[in-house]
Amino acid sequence: MRKEIKKLAMDDNALNSAAELILDSKRNVGFTGAGVSVESGIPPFRGKDGLWNKYDPGILDLSYFYSNPKESWSVIKELFYDFFGSAKPNSAHKVLAEMEQMGLLSSVITQNIDNLHQEAGSKTVYEFHGNSRHLICKECDITYTVTEDLIKELPPRCEKCGSVLKPDFIFFGEMIPEFAYRKSVEEAQQAQVFIVIGTTGEVVPASLIPQMAKENGVMIIEVNPKKSLFTDSFTDIYLQGKASEVMPELMEKIKLKL
Ligand code: APR
Ligand code: ZN
Repeated sequence: MRKEIKKLAMDDNALNSAAELILDSKRNVGFTGAGVSVESGIPPFRGKDGLWNKYDPGILDLSYFYSNPKESWSVIKELFYDFFGSAKPNSAHKVLAEMEQMGLLSSVITQNIDNLHQEAGSKTVYEFHGNSRHLICKECDITYTVTEDLIKELPPRCEKCGSVLKPDFIFFGEMIPEFAYRKSVEEAQQAQVFIVIGTTGEVVPASLIPQMAKENGVMIIEVNPKKSLFTDSFTDIYLQGKASEVMPELMEKIKLKL
């Protein structure tokens, strides 16, 4: 019982400090990973219930994909379209969108390809690993919007040249989209506060962005039920908990101080 009360008090202090930091800062940026979408029904990649325990990440190796398009596509469809397709934004996504509307957040840098930040209403989203909403033909450089029809027959092929279409998200070994990378580095240089939500910090180069920010004197607020590679090295305020529980509490504190 005492431990509970002590934890609640500590959380409350941490929440209040985080709210003050956000309100005093001229530029706040969100940085999200798979954890922010867990409560939307999308499992994380790593950890006990991680997708990579059930699926071989090799399906997202570019050369494997082009040499085994049918096999690779059947798993990709199951994982990133059937699964992701039914997910809806949760309160953590919605709080970030509301913060942007209130002028308290300049952008969200996300490692996620699930489009849930945009569906929650966020306008400025830098997709570090691309997005599953589009398929591209690398031969013709044509982009197709994903429809059920387009991915009914696998692998989906380009109408113009018949080549296999690839989801517009980053496969292992592929370059980070130039625009998202450049804007993320700019934010790491210009921000005063980063709100890092639901990432292990294990995947590079994405995890270098909060590090870069820290080196530029940016304050790091982290939301994660478990410690990440950032927590003991870069994080200034650690809000231990699930994103869809902590973010509404943080917003409440912010509104009380407005
Ligand atoms: N709320 C907040 N964080 C959570 C929650 C939750 N409800 N549930 C889990 N987490 C945290 C975990 O503690 C972990 O730190 O989310 C993180 C999920 O880890 P990963 O699945 O490894 O996700 P991430 O770090 O974003 O992985 C990055 O790896 O496979 C690639 O491209 C893929 O973008 C992905 C990248
Ligand atoms: Zn083509």
